[in-house]
Amino acid sequence: MTVFTAFPADFQWGAATSAYQIEGSPLADGAGRNIWHEFAHTPGQTHNGDTGDVACDHYHRYRDDVALMRELGLNAYRFSVSWSRVLPEGRGAVNPRGLDFYQRLVDALLEQGIQPMLTLYHWDLPAALDRLGGWLNPDSAHWFADYAQILFRALDDRVKFWVTLNEPWVVADGGYLHGVLAPGRRNPFAAPHAAHHLLRASAAAIQTYRAEGRHQIGLVVNLEPKYPASETVADLDATMRADAYWNRYYLDPVFLGSYPPELPEIFGAAWPSFPDADLDVIRQSPDFLGVNYYSRQVVRHDPDDWPLAAGRVRQPQQTYTNLDWEVYPQGLTDILEWVAGRYGSVPLYVTENGAAFYDPPQADADGAVNDPLRQRYLRDHLRAAQAALDRGVNLRGYFAWSLLDNFEWAHGYSQRFGLIHVDYATQQRTIKASGRFYAEVIRSRGATLFQ
Ligand code: FCB
Repeated sequence: MTVFTAFPADFQWGAATSAYQIEGSPLADGAGRNIWHEFAHTPGQTHNGDTGDVACDHYHRYRDDVALMRELGLNAYRFSVSWSRVLPEGRGAVNPRGLDFYQRLVDALLEQGIQPMLTLYHWDLPAALDRLGGWLNPDSAHWFADYAQILFRALDDRVKFWVTLNEPWVVADGGYLHGVLAPGRRNPFAAPHAAHHLLRASAAAIQTYRAEGRHQIGLVVNLEPKYPASETVADLDATMRADAYWNRYYLDPVFLGSYPPELPEIFGAAWPSFPDADLDVIRQSPDFLGVNYYSRQVVRHDPDDWPLAAGRVRQPQQTYTNLDWEVYPQGLTDILEWVAGRYGSVPLYVTENGAAFYDPPQADADGAVNDPLRQRYLRDHLRAAQAALDRGVNLRGYFAWSLLDNFEWAHGYSQRFGLIHVDYATQQRTIKASGRFYAEVIRSRGATLFQ
């Protein structure tokens, strides 16, 4: 009998979410305000004025949601903790009721044999800390390490996979450079400082964990491979700039101890000179690296694109998602191989991968949600992950984004990424066809992908 071994027996098959996107009740049980709550409540900042006030009401329905994870056959679940539930002021007094929610969630997961992967920061900074400058304040690294230590002490007996930050690139680019995400700052002079302090914060939390944690701690970055539109020097240079800014910015300092040389050119006068001592601290290899992969960029020199002068060339023959992201599964294999080649044998996880395609607000009359485009996206990206394994990449797990349809940041509820449909009027959950397909992939340990 042939045993199918495309994915290792201990492969983590998961789905991912984040606190503000699904929990709802952001101020319940003594929680403090966070920057996403404030941003979403500022007129004009989100699609339709949508907020995370209710979201998927996961704060109250987490047990049902864990049961759905079980029904899908997941053996891992990646979620984030809301800092301001645990520390309403961001530092100082702990709010035991906020912490208790995550204790109950972790216990419910473990009861169902689902391994928690806990992200400490998925963009929802306590508003009280933002008033002190947020990630622009050099003290933010210490605030974060102190917060992390509270979580380590409360949950390291049960949580074996910790993540410091989710996508620091998005925090700095969306929150401090372009201002399209909370806290909505738009300043090229600020963004490199935010990025730097985020890297210091991640390193400080890793150091704290190494002193007292017993399992593994990693970092999650969003990567997007860059391919030149032509072989002209202008396009090749633009591709290098885009690659430096998107992909190497948050990895070179961590693994190699220096920023990519293109960054001073990109930021010009706004690029600060950072102390060498900071880079010594930042160079702190995590136990694993999470890669969030959604799309690629075919790059053309474009002087109108700020600050990179690197435009995106549309590929008319390809499928695009609702968010206008090109579907390009090969990019997942490419980027995983690139990480392994450049940064060595650090264990890798695909910590997010998924697509927003149109789904109706309610299930069909027969109770089904058929989402063939998402199902195909999932199949092709899982095949691409398998191809990376075949090529020797040390890939340990895959987390679909997302478990549930949810609050997609500035896009509000207009974009659905879930394996599970949420009817926001009733909070009814329906496993989509893509979710059923994923369950079958997990059950067959990947064999279904190749039928
Ligand atoms: C990632 C975020 C996640 C979600 C997906 C679509 O950048 O980490 O919260 O918004 O994109």
